[in-house]
Amino acid sequence: MFPYDAVLFDLDGTLTESAPGIMRSAGYAARKLGYEDFDPRVLRRFIGPPLFESFQKVFGMDEARALKAVELYREDFDAVGWSVNAVYEGIPMLLRALKRAGIKICLATAKPMVFAERILRHFGLWRFFDVAIGITLEDHHADKAKIVRAATPAGCERPVMIGDRFYDVEGGRANGMDTVGVLYGYGSREELVQAGATHIAANVAALWDILLPGAAREPGFFLTIEGLDGSGKSSQIERLCEHLRARGYEVARSREPGGCPIAEKIRDLLLDPANGEMCSLTEALLYAAGRAQHVRQVVRPALQAGRVLVCDRFVDSSAVYQGAARGLGLDEVMALNAPAIDGTMPDLTLYFAVDPATAMARRSGERTLDRIEREQQAFHARVYAAYEELARRNPQRIVRIDASQSIDEIARNAAAAVDAVLDGR
Ligand code: TMP
Repeated sequence: MFPYDAVLFDLDGTLTESAPGIMRSAGYAARKLGYEDFDPRVLRRFIGPPLFESFQKVFGMDEARALKAVELYREDFDAVGWSVNAVYEGIPMLLRALKRAGIKICLATAKPMVFAERILRHFGLWRFFDVAIGITLEDHHADKAKIVRAATPAGCERPVMIGDRFYDVEGGRANGMDTVGVLYGYGSREELVQAGATHIAANVAALWDILLPGAAREPGFFLTIEGLDGSGKSSQIERLCEHLRARGYEVARSREPGGCPIAEKIRDLLLDPANGEMCSLTEALLYAAGRAQHVRQVVRPALQAGRVLVCDRFVDSSAVYQGAARGLGLDEVMALNAPAIDGTMPDLTLYFAVDPATAMARRSGERTLDRIEREQQAFHARVYAAYEELARRNPQRIVRIDASQSIDEIARNAAAAVDAVLDGR
C-alpha cells in the first residue's frame, strides 16, 4: 500500500512552469496602467501569491487600480499568457503511475478554473484529474485552505498536498494533511520548511519516491522517424522534440546509422562517397552491426529510464533501402537484423511521405550528398514505393504524414499523431 490515497497538486510551479506567461501578463497590465519604468525582475513576485495582492504590493496600487490591473492581466492571459507555459519534466509519467496505482489525483489551485482547465487540456493532462478546484474570475481573495478542503475527495483518508510555495503548505496543514514542498518551482527551501512541509522534494524523481515508494518506473516510448532523404525529417524532429518536452516528457534523441561512438564510425564508413565499391550485403550487415550496438548502448537504456526516445531512422530504413531498393529482399534483411534488434521495435513510427521528385529537389540544396543520397532517381523511387507499402502493411505502428504540406502543418500533424498515442496509453 502506498502512503497516500489522494494527491492534491498546486498548478503553477508544481505541475507547470508558468512564470514566463504570468510575468508577461503582469507586465502588460502594469504598462497599460502607465507603469513604464520598472525592473522586469519585479514581475517574478507575481508568481504564487494572489494577483490582486501583488499589484498592490509590487506597484503600490490602491484597491481600485489593482482590480483594474487584474482585469487587464486576465485580458492578456486569456489571449496569450496562458500558453506561455510548459509541463515539468516527468509529470505526465508520474500522473499516469499514480492513476494506475488507484490514487486519486486532484488539483487545488488559486488560478481561475477556466485557465487551469485550458492549460491542463492543452498539455493532455486534464484526463488524469478526479477533482479540480480553482477560483472564479470574480474571486480576488483566493483562500488556499478553502480550495484545498474543496479539492479533497470524500472518503480519502490519507491525502497529501503538494506545492511550491508556503501558501500550499499552509493550505494543506490547515486541513490537517501531510504536505510536500517542491523545490523546482518558485518558492525557497526556507519558506517551505518554515511553513512546516512534511517532505521536501528537489525534483519530480523525488516526488516519485515519496508518493510511490518502491514502484516500478514506467517503460519509455520508442518513436522512430522515417522518410526519403529530403523529406524534411530533421527540422520536424527538432520541432517534435520541443513539443514533447513542453508536455513534460523526458525526451532523448538519436539517429541511425550512428547514435553512439562505434555506430557513428560505422556511419562514416557507410556514407563515405569514396566507398563506392561496397557491395549490398556488406552495406546491409554494417547497418545491422551499427544497430546492434545502438540498441544496446542507447535505445534500451533510454527506454528503461522512462524516456521518450525519438530516433531518426531505424530498421524500417534497412527494409526499404537494402531490402527493397538494393534488392536484397525485405524478409532477408529483416532476418539479418533480427539478432541486432532482438525484439526492440518502435512503439510508433512517423513516416514523412514526399514523392521522390520533391525529395530530390530538396536534397540537391545546400550540402554535398553522401554515398546513398547520390543514388539514381530510380533507386529513390524504389525506396518511396517500399515505404508506401510498409506503411500500408503496418497501419497500427506506422503513421503516414503528408510531408508535401507547409512546415507548420506537417509539425501540427506529427505532434497530433504522437499525442494521440501517448495520451491514449
Ligand atoms: P540520414 O541522412 O537520414 O542520416 O541517413 C543516412 C542514409 O542512410 C540515408 O540515405 C538512408 C540510409 N540508410 C540505409 O540505407 N539503411 C539503414 O538502415 C539506415 C538507418 C539508413
